Amino acid sequence: MEAQSGASHITANNGNKAIRVENLRKDYRSGGNTTQVLKEVSFSVDQGEFFSLMGPSGSGKSTLLYLLGGLTHSDSGRIWLDGVELTGRGDADITRMRYDKIGFVFQRFNLLPTLTSVENVEIATRLTIFRNGSQRKGLPSPTELLELVGLGDKLHRRPAEMSIGEQQRVAIARALVRRPAILLADEPTGSLDRQNTEKVLEILCKLNSEHGQTIIMVTHDPEVAGQGDRTLYMVDGCINGEGRHK
Ligand SMILES: Nc1ncnc2c1ncn2[C@@H]1O[C@H](COP(=O)(O)OP(=O)(O)O)[C@@H](O)[C@H]1O
Ligand SMILES: [Mg+2]
Repeated sequence: MEAQSGASHITANNGNKAIRVENLRKDYRSGGNTTQVLKEVSFSVDQGEFFSLMGPSGSGKSTLLYLLGGLTHSDSGRIWLDGVELTGRGDADITRMRYDKIGFVFQRFNLLPTLTSVENVEIATRLTIFRNGSQRKGLPSPTELLELVGLGDKLHRRPAEMSIGEQQRVAIARALVRRPAILLADEPTGSLDRQNTEKVLEILCKLNSEHGQTIIMVTHDPEVAGQGDRTLYMVDGCINGEGRHK
């Protein structure tokens, strides 16, 4: 797809949408076979909305999240983040948009095993400094972020010295270093027991209600999804329905 010039990336009718997706398609090709993973997906998410995405395994939820975060390209369709179009841009531009707007939390936390909590968060802040030293002004420190997720007393623990739930909270702190407007969470409670699930949900709800962060959370668990404002259901690469909780 060709890059588009500045003004056409801004659409007047985006209102206060954090995310708008229009006719998004994604195919995977291997050995002459094409799998349609997303088929004409369209939806939008308001700024400050806590949005859940549910659907059977293989229905395309993770693929959709990767597309929203600019980690992979669509075959057709358009995505806007805060009214600015992501699709049709070059890789450097997409990386900048991701840095400016998006935080990722995955089911597997991907913490570096030899680093402590505070070092695992710190390393993400260094990536930001690498781009532009002045950018960190006014952003929360690794210690502040770990306090926010209730780990102020475990700053110097390594992942192996913490519970699975605590490791996920370090990963959430890491996702927040640039104070992203949009947090994309792919089954963030998928590896957690009930008690830790509740703790992580409490943190996500707090980020949403007190810090105004827009959250898109993939989950298999209807109870977890019910913590959000709205749930979108995906089946076989299509949006198959929607439910509102609040
Ligand atoms: N890199 C890839 N190459 C080929 N097929 C893939 C790739 N990633 C995912 N798929 C396929 O795309 C479909 C959707 O996958 P995914 O988005 O991970 O679903 P979900 O997160 O809902 O379980 C599945 O059929 C999966 O096998
Ligand atoms: Mg998935």
